Amino acid sequence: MNSEAVSVIVLAAGKGTRMKSKTPKVLHKVAGREMLGHVLNAGFATQPEKSIVVYSHTEVLDYIQDNFTLQNTFCVEQKEQLGTAHAVIACEEELQGFEGHVLILCGDVPLLTTELVERFVTSHKSQNNDITFMTAFVDDPTGLGRVVRDDQDEEVRAIVEHKDATESERQIDEINAGIYIAKAPCLFDLLRKIGDNNAQGEFYITDIVALGLRDGLTVGTFTAENADALGGVNSRLQLANAEDLYQNALREHFMEHGVTMVDPQSVFFSYDTQVGADCELGPNVRFGPDVRLENNVFVEGDCYIADSYINDGAKIYSFSHIVGSEVGHKSKVGPFARLRPESDIGDEAKVGSFVEIKKSRLGYKTSAGHLSYIGDAIIGNEVNIGAGTVFANYDGAAKHTTHVENNVFIGSNTTIVSPVQIGAGATTAASSVITKNVDNDILVISKVSRHDKADWTRPVKREDDE
Ligand code: UD1
Ligand code: MG
Repeated sequence: MNSEAVSVIVLAAGKGTRMKSKTPKVLHKVAGREMLGHVLNAGFATQPEKSIVVYSHTEVLDYIQDNFTLQNTFCVEQKEQLGTAHAVIACEEELQGFEGHVLILCGDVPLLTTELVERFVTSHKSQNNDITFMTAFVDDPTGLGRVVRDDQDEEVRAIVEHKDATESERQIDEINAGIYIAKAPCLFDLLRKIGDNNAQGEFYITDIVALGLRDGLTVGTFTAENADALGGVNSRLQLANAEDLYQNALREHFMEHGVTMVDPQSVFFSYDTQVGADCELGPNVRFGPDVRLENNVFVEGDCYIADSYINDGAKIYSFSHIVGSEVGHKSKVGPFARLRPESDIGDEAKVGSFVEIKKSRLGYKTSAGHLSYIGDAIIGNEVNIGAGTVFANYDGAAKHTTHVENNVFIGSNTTIVSPVQIGAGATTAASSVITKNVDNDILVISKVSRHDKADWTRPVKREDDE
C-alpha cells in the first residue's frame, strides 16, 4: 500500500436550503459547469487513487454517473444530512484498507483551482502533518468557521463555527475554507469521536482539529492568498459573485494570451472556451460549452456561440447564433445568421443575414447571402444560393437530404423540395420550385410546385402551370 497516495472525498449531500432551489446546490453552474464538476476537476490534480462523492439527491448521482465514472469516481449516499463529519464517515467503507491521505473538499467551492490543491497537498506532505486544513483571511467572515489560534496567534487550537462562536471569536477574520487533508487511519478514528453538541445539532468535520490536537496529532494550516477563490457558495448572491470572479479570471487569461476585447466585462466564457491569439471579441459575446476559436477570429458584438469550432481568420458578425457547427477558414457569417447543429461551413464561404442553416455542409467559397433556410443539404464548392431560397426538407413525416454539386447557381426565391440532386454547373431561375433531379449544366425554369410523390396519401390540390 502506497502511504503517499491520495483519495478525494467531495461533500455534496447538503440540503442547500439557502439557494431556494429544486436543483441540488452543487449542480448549479458557474461558467457553464456544475460547481461539483469544478471541485472534482480540482481534486483530480492529485491523481487520486479514488474519488468519492457524498450525495443525497439522485440528480447528483446521475450527474456523476453520466460524467465521471471513467475517472475512478464513486458515489456514496448520505441518507440523513447530519453534518459534514457524518458525510465523511459515510465513505469509510469505500476507503477500507486505504492508508494514504484523504483530501476532503466541499462541493460548493467552484473557484478552487488545481494549482491551489496541488500546493495544499504538497505543503501537507512536506510538513508530515497528520491533518492540514486550508484557511484564508477575508473581509467579511460572517457565517464561516473561524480559526482560533493560541495567545501568540501562532499555533492553531480549533475551528469554531459562526453560530457557536463567542463575540470575540467572531472578530477573527481568518476562516476555515472547508478543505482538509488527513492521514486516513487517524481521520476515521477522530471522526468517530465527534459529537453533535453544538448550535446546529450537527456532526461537524471541523471538530477534527481540536480533537486531533487533544490526541497529540500534528495539525497544520495552509493559508491561501487568494481568499476570493475560497468562498463557498451558499446563496444565489454568492453564486453570482463566484460567476463574476470566474469570468474575470478567464477574461484576464485570454487578454494575457493575445485576445482583444473592447468591453471585457460584457464577454462571457464557458469554463472550457478556447480562444486563439489575435482574436477580437466585441461586446456582449457569450460562449456556451465546448467552443474553440482558432487564431485571428473576429466576433462582432452580440453573438452566442456554443459547441462549435471556428477556424482561423473567420469573421462572425453581430447577432449571430451558432450552435454545434464548424465555420471554415476565412469564412464570413452574419450579421443575423443562425447555424444550428451539424452545420459545416467550408473555407471562404459566406452565410449572410437572416440565413438559417441546419445539418448541412456548404463547400469552399459557397455563398448564401440573404434570407434563406438550408436544412439537410450537402452543397458543393462555389455554389451561389440566391436570396429567399428555401430547402423544403420536411414533408410532414420525414426529413430528406438534398445534394447540390459544385458551381450551381440557385436563383432567388427558389424552393428546393427534397430529396433532389442538382448537378454541377446547373442554374435554377428565380422563383423556381425544384421537385426533380436536375442534370449538370442545365437551366431550370419552373413556376409552380408539383407534388408527384407516388406515396403521398393526403389529398393534393393541383393548380395550373400558368
Ligand atoms: C462549512 C464549514 C465552515 C467553513 C465553510 C467554508 C462545517 C461544520 N463548517 O460551513 O467551517 O468555513 O464550510 O465554506 O463543516 N454537506 C454534506 N452533508 C451534510 C452537510 C453538508 O454533504 O450533512 C456538504 C454540503 O453539500 C457542502 C459542504 O458539505 O458541499 C459544506 O456544507 P455547508 O452546509 O455549505 O457548510 P457551511 O455552512 O458552508
Ligand atoms: Mg458552504
